[in-house]
Amino acid sequence: MKLKIKDFLAITDLNKEELLFVLKTAKDFKSGKLKDKTLAGKSVAMIFEKPSTRTRLSFQTAIYELGAQPINLNSNEIQLSRGETVQDTAKVLSRYVHAITLRTFEHSRVVELAKYASVPVINALSDYEHPCQILADLQTMEETKGLKGIKAAFVGDGNNNVTNSYIFGCAILGIPLTIACPKKYEPTKAVLEEAQTLAGKVDLTITNNPKEAVKDADVIYTDVWVSMGMEKEYEERKKAFKDFQLNEELMKNAKKKDYIVMHCLPAHRGDEITDGVIDGSHSVVFDEAENRKHAQKSILHLLLNSR
Ligand code: CP
Ligand code: NVA
Repeated sequence: MKLKIKDFLAITDLNKEELLFVLKTAKDFKSGKLKDKTLAGKSVAMIFEKPSTRTRLSFQTAIYELGAQPINLNSNEIQLSRGETVQDTAKVLSRYVHAITLRTFEHSRVVELAKYASVPVINALSDYEHPCQILADLQTMEETKGLKGIKAAFVGDGNNNVTNSYIFGCAILGIPLTIACPKKYEPTKAVLEEAQTLAGKVDLTITNNPKEAVKDADVIYTDVWVSMGMEKEYEERKKAFKDFQLNEELMKNAKKKDYIVMHCLPAHRGDEITDGVIDGSHSVVFDEAENRKHAQKSILHLLLNSR
């Protein structure tokens, strides 16, 4: 199968069949069934306007193992930080490299980069979506629980990039999802409306009671209470989210024996998750982190070899 899209800016860029194919390709890279070096002699530029550990390293190692050259561009070391436009940056980079990844603030920046770049652009996290993360999450869910007949939950910030991508990913695949978050931090109307347009049968419950979310869940996911760029809201958010921590007490309400705990990382231990839960026997957070590399190999390979 070839992907029809030029860019990967949002998980919603993929339909169900394409998403399952990207996941299958990731699995094949991980198992070694698909051999690396499919991008030999190419170059991929990675622009970071926010900090990153996993995304930077997983892209860099994936690109290298695919036989291509990763070029890491810290945004304050390129002219973008001195007023060169996204449009001109897109056009110039397209003359040198075969793909561009961008981690940024407003989602419109990644959309603009893709509009003016003649090569594929991949969203390495924006304020609206983190599509590469959700690929790795779905791969991890598939490996541990399978993707059919499972129930997913999220406890924490219902209105951030990771939650949005999780909502859309579950909607595309028809996985029932319950989100527990404070009233003020529920998913936006726009996200809920967009989810309704996906795959036809969205089963999404929003609750303000975390016990309700974990009760029947096979997958229990959380993310930081304060996303990058929102640091000024730390005290306010810490108060608002205090009852939405994944801790041993809350986990007693999870009835399924083999539920898994996911976190995209970095974790703020003691805030959204306790040491006992993140280091506990249900946690798959480090498999999830590893899968970033396999998932991104898949999307890079498919985007660049479908053209
Ligand atoms: N999960 C994730 O994107 O981690 P980094 O911010 O370290 O890249
Ligand atoms: N929601 C988090 C995800 C980090 C990978 C943030 O945007 O900071």
